[in-house]
Amino acid sequence: TIQGNGVKGLYEMGLKTLPKQYIQPLEERMSMTNNKVVPQESIPIIDMSNNNNCEEVEDAICDAAEKWGFFQVINHGVPIHVLENVKDATYRFFELAAEEKVKYSKENSATKNVRYGSSFNPDVEKALEWKDYLSLFYVSDDEATATWPYACRDEAVEYMKKSEALIKRLLNILMKRLNVNEIDETKEAFLMGSRRINLNYYPACPNHDLAVAIGRHSDVSTLTILLQDQTGGLFVRTEEEDRRGWIHVPPIPEALVINIGDALQIMSNGRYKSVEHRVRANGSKTRVSVPIFVNPRPSDVIGPFLEVLASGEKAKYKNVLYSDYVRHFFGKAHDGKMTIEYA
Ligand code: SIN
Ligand code: FE2
Repeated sequence: TIQGNGVKGLYEMGLKTLPKQYIQPLEERMSMTNNKVVPQESIPIIDMSNNNNCEEVEDAICDAAEKWGFFQVINHGVPIHVLENVKDATYRFFELAAEEKVKYSKENSATKNVRYGSSFNPDVEKALEWKDYLSLFYVSDDEATATWPYACRDEAVEYMKKSEALIKRLLNILMKRLNVNEIDETKEAFLMGSRRINLNYYPACPNHDLAVAIGRHSDVSTLTILLQDQTGGLFVRTEEEDRRGWIHVPPIPEALVINIGDALQIMSNGRYKSVEHRVRANGSKTRVSVPIFVNPRPSDVIGPFLEVLASGEKAKYKNVLYSDYVRHFFGKAHDGKMTIEYA
């Protein structure tokens, strides 16, 4: 990280122009025509309150997972104060002195499960991302208490725990359409055997049109639950004919953004889509976001579920050791979707 204070430090120096390392190649800039923003189009917003017709909600969720790979949920059951608290905790962490934060950098962190840094993979990136992050891989409450930064650890754990019921509800609904009617222990491990939570901090950026906050990628998770603030800037790829481009995910107070990751695309044999997304750098405002990545266990070998192939459908993906898949993802830049297809 840049002198321990990340891009937040650069922003606070009052830079008037974007440093060279952050200037994106032309084709990655949001202003390019192949990157056009699709107007008047939005991913579905689904009301999950219990008094809503169950079947309608379930259909809306599965349809969105098939068509867009992204949707927003409201009345999702995660208490609003828990979301507010984790947002506050995100500011609290990044506002710590550089010497405090740098204790969690790649070089200094006592554990590989806790990592503070900037950009995504600076060693291989053509241009750096305008982003600071704290990434927390969850193993147990005890480990979190012992190793996660005090400034945010209780709030991060609470957000994870209070999202559990929503995660299970979503996975149950999505599995039903795949003819997986019971999530036994093995399936539960494939679907939600591990968790990672990221606190993302994107300061305002000089010459923001030349930069990106996060480059295009799809998530390697089963599902991602994303809390974003009211700044905006998350865009989702659509390949629909005549309207190829990027759709903005408008911030909605109290909502959560849900997206399908590569692991679920593979397990559903391509039925649910893990879709490319990116975050635009903002010229005037700081943005924070807090994704929970719901993942298989690293030691799981994942592939299309047998229930999906029972109809005689051909497997589109080979089985893959999840830790191999993830290692590959973390070894490259955010330069597009990577799901390995063999069909
Ligand atoms: C991500 O794609 O990992 C984060 C997205 C966001 O900050 O909105
Ligand atoms: Fe992502």
